[in-house]
Amino acid sequence: MRIHLVQTDSTNRVAREEALAGAVSGTVVWADCQIAGKGQYGRSFASPAGGLYFSLILRPALAPDRVPLITLATGLACREVLARRYNVEATLKWPNDLFVQGKKVGGILCETLFESHLSPAQATVIIGVGINCNGGVADFPEELRSLVTTISQCCQTTIDIASLVDTLVTEIEATVQLLQRESASLLDRWQQYDYLFEQSLRYSNGAESFIGTGKGICGDGRYRLVDAQGREHAIIGGQLRPLSWPENEWVASQQDKVGREER
Ligand code: BTN
Repeated sequence: MRIHLVQTDSTNRVAREEALAGAVSGTVVWADCQIAGKGQYGRSFASPAGGLYFSLILRPALAPDRVPLITLATGLACREVLARRYNVEATLKWPNDLFVQGKKVGGILCETLFESHLSPAQATVIIGVGINCNGGVADFPEELRSLVTTISQCCQTTIDIASLVDTLVTEIEATVQLLQRESASLLDRWQQYDYLFEQSLRYSNGAESFIGTGKGICGDGRYRLVDAQGREHAIIGGQLRPLSWPENEWVASQQDKVGREER
């Protein structure tokens, strides 16, 4: 089922309500724009008209330890669709961002619900995808304009968003299914597009902060860093950003500035 809204606060919020009300796996909520789009770490996600914003409700038959890999699988699926359809070669910034030529073109926010009528092993996952499609950077708040790009700007084509939603949903569902049997080869594919690989990075999670070199993802989806003392760290939460990004610019999740400034 597809639920199309002209405008909403957040398709993830609507999808969560639909899921709790019993919407079947495969239901999609998509909107032409969002006025309170959600990004990672509770930030906001700028969602002007012209972009693609949808949330897919899935109840995948996956072992619980594979569920955190859904964000990586979704990023890979989106990357492959953009390459195939538009020749736009995005890289993947762990864990959830798509970049083209150093600018953010999209992000993913997966949220997991544990519903009382389902077994604790069966999770409902809301897979939220936002991709900057039509229009240009002038559609974004001024402080984001140097940090983002759009697909139409990259390939000089107007994007048919409804058709792209369909293709992305099909690809995401197929890629998530592969996680149960073929997660290693899927993570190998993800690794080929790792934006942070061999970059000098700062990691911070509130409690600790250190500098290291990006070494790619582990089999369980954590990201590996090696610090100046040669110690290896495998991180799960927190934020990673290249040291080459300006210190005073929180560009780690580039469409989240508006929310940060409001807090
Ligand atoms: C990020 O960049 O931190 C993740 C952004 C995820 C945005 C998408 S847009 C559709 C769905 N609805 C939301 O409120 N967020 C996700």
